[in-house]
Amino acid sequence: MRKMEIQKTSDGSSTLYLPEMDEHYHSTNGALTESLHVFIKTGLETHEKSELSVLEIGFGTGLNAMLTLKAADRLERCVNYSSIELYPLSKELVDSLDFGFDSQEDKANFSKLHDAEWNTSVAISERFVLKKIHGDLTKTVFEDRFDLVYFDAFAPDKQPDMWSEEIFRHIYEQMNDGGIFVTYCAKGVVRRMLQAVGFTTERLPGPPGKREMLRAKKL
Ligand SMILES: C[S@@+](CC[C@H](N)C(=O)[O-])C[C@H]1O[C@@H](n2cnc3c(N)ncnc32)[C@H](O)[C@@H]1O
Repeated sequence: MRKMEIQKTSDGSSTLYLPEMDEHYHSTNGALTESLHVFIKTGLETHEKSELSVLEIGFGTGLNAMLTLKAADRLERCVNYSSIELYPLSKELVDSLDFGFDSQEDKANFSKLHDAEWNTSVAISERFVLKKIHGDLTKTVFEDRFDLVYFDAFAPDKQPDMWSEEIFRHIYEQMNDGGIFVTYCAKGVVRRMLQAVGFTTERLPGPPGKREMLRAKKL
């Protein structure tokens, strides 16, 4: 198990710090705020389909999955959520995180997300089906088709092999027309790779502490 530290971010929610990489799982300017802004508000809420197939790169703490489950309920959407993760976190570590999911229902759903069997589709709620894929993104060939992609890998300067044209091309090919790809990263080199594989890209206001983020569309 890799050594990790739990840290509190500016909005009071937790994140994890990975000393061996000198990298955080979320923005230290607010983990919850960042996830809501980048993936829910700029991603999920902007897609028109009422039944969505979502792919997340990096399940990590399950924060994006949980926020999507809650949004699916609120927006009355059905979501099939696939998420790939190479290094699943221990139950003990996950139980020590605080994202403000304090109601009994939220606690139960957050546990269900983490307890769900890997590589199997599991119905977590009436509107949310989860498939956690235990694997390495750089070696995985996806078979499903996706409407929305949350690209939440560690930053390109920390893990450059996750941000390649080859990976973006494969994801693009697996996306349905009208598909939306969002990432917190706004680097020009990433934007140009996304454009090179066929996406139309937009630079949009980022979460606190980041001027911009990227949204890409498969038209
Ligand atoms: C920025 S964190 C993701 C945070 C996560 N989305 C959340 O809400 O907590 C990046 C994640 O990618 C995972 N990861 C790193 N290398 C990977 C690989 N080759 N394939 C799949 N996942 C990987 C990490 O273990 C980590 O959980």
